[in-house]
Amino acid sequence: MKQPKKILLTGAAGYIGAHTAVELIQKGHDPLLIDDFSKSDDTLLKGIEKIIGAKPNFIQGDCKDPAFLEKLFSQKKFDSVIHFAAYKSVGESVSDPLMYYNNNLRSMVELLNAMKKFKVFEFIFSSSCTVYGQPDVIPVNENAPFKKAESPYGTTKQMCEQILEDVVRSEKELRVISLRYFNPVGAHPSGLIGELPIGVPNNLVPYVTQTAAGLRPKLTVFGNDYDTPDGSCIRDFIHVVDLAQAHVVAVEKIKNMPSNNEAFNLGTGEGVSVLELINKFEKATGVKVNFEIGSRRSGDVVKTYADPGKAKKMLGWQTKLSLEDSLTDAWRWQKRVSHLSI
Ligand code: UFG
Repeated sequence: MKQPKKILLTGAAGYIGAHTAVELIQKGHDPLLIDDFSKSDDTLLKGIEKIIGAKPNFIQGDCKDPAFLEKLFSQKKFDSVIHFAAYKSVGESVSDPLMYYNNNLRSMVELLNAMKKFKVFEFIFSSSCTVYGQPDVIPVNENAPFKKAESPYGTTKQMCEQILEDVVRSEKELRVISLRYFNPVGAHPSGLIGELPIGVPNNLVPYVTQTAAGLRPKLTVFGNDYDTPDGSCIRDFIHVVDLAQAHVVAVEKIKNMPSNNEAFNLGTGEGVSVLELINKFEKATGVKVNFEIGSRRSGDVVKTYADPGKAKKMLGWQTKLSLEDSLTDAWRWQKRVSHLSI
């Protein structure tokens, strides 16, 4: 086991934060979990407790609040910060951009301020493949240029990466890794934690599982007339446990990186279409999904999947779980939480 680390993990009650908390704890690390519950409740914290067999260390608080951070950093010593806390709904960011800029930028800036003051030098940032927009070359690697983002949410991810680039230039001891997620799906194989969308899901897999569970009458496939083999959009769906494990490796290896600011694509390297995914879900679970073809959703990237080669080479990380694993795990979770969905 590598040296255990004391880690501040923000956004711990959310989907990816909760899975990462479990993987860190199971590897012997010591994360302090924080969340302001603005887009979550304690459901996933209870799930973490069941998986690890103990109450995780948790404090409710908002990382936009400098007084909260001051108190936290003065009372606890951290080696690293993993920053998940952010709003992530593309549609909501279009209708309320100020809320997105306020939350996603300020929380990171305040955290970096606190880290500077209390001499914490390792920062892992939750970024997204949204920074690439529609890439010209697929599979997309980390050198692809940032195209104009399709939404204010996407812009916040680009801006955060820009801020980090500027800050590492002025703070020589700071080390940053930005992890650019492709499409995280699935749930913990225990069925105890998973994705818990608020209201009607925006993302494909929760919509598929809620339709299969009878909570939604019908899934709409947003367009089958794209320039792809079956006409539907293509994505790189990565199991959330694989994604969580990448954070563990990143925090363990951040000191060994050749530069003080690195970005990594986290994906499987395989493109799967929306229609293929529905088909795989039906095969993997034996449950039919009622769907219809609808019109295109504005702002959708037609086709994107990762070149995950840099993460494999420099972090020694690659995905281990299949899309079938993701879909059966997502379905197991859905069946446990259907009563919580609205
Ligand atoms: N889709 C449907 N029907 C639905 C929901 C989605 O057909 O009910 C399709 C979308 O049109 C898209 C694909 O399924 O083609 C995937 O859509 P998601 O909303 O699940 O995921 P996106 O790729 O649009 O979005 C994800 C993240 C965002 C991030 C974006 C970057 O959820 O946070 O990738 O490309 F910004």
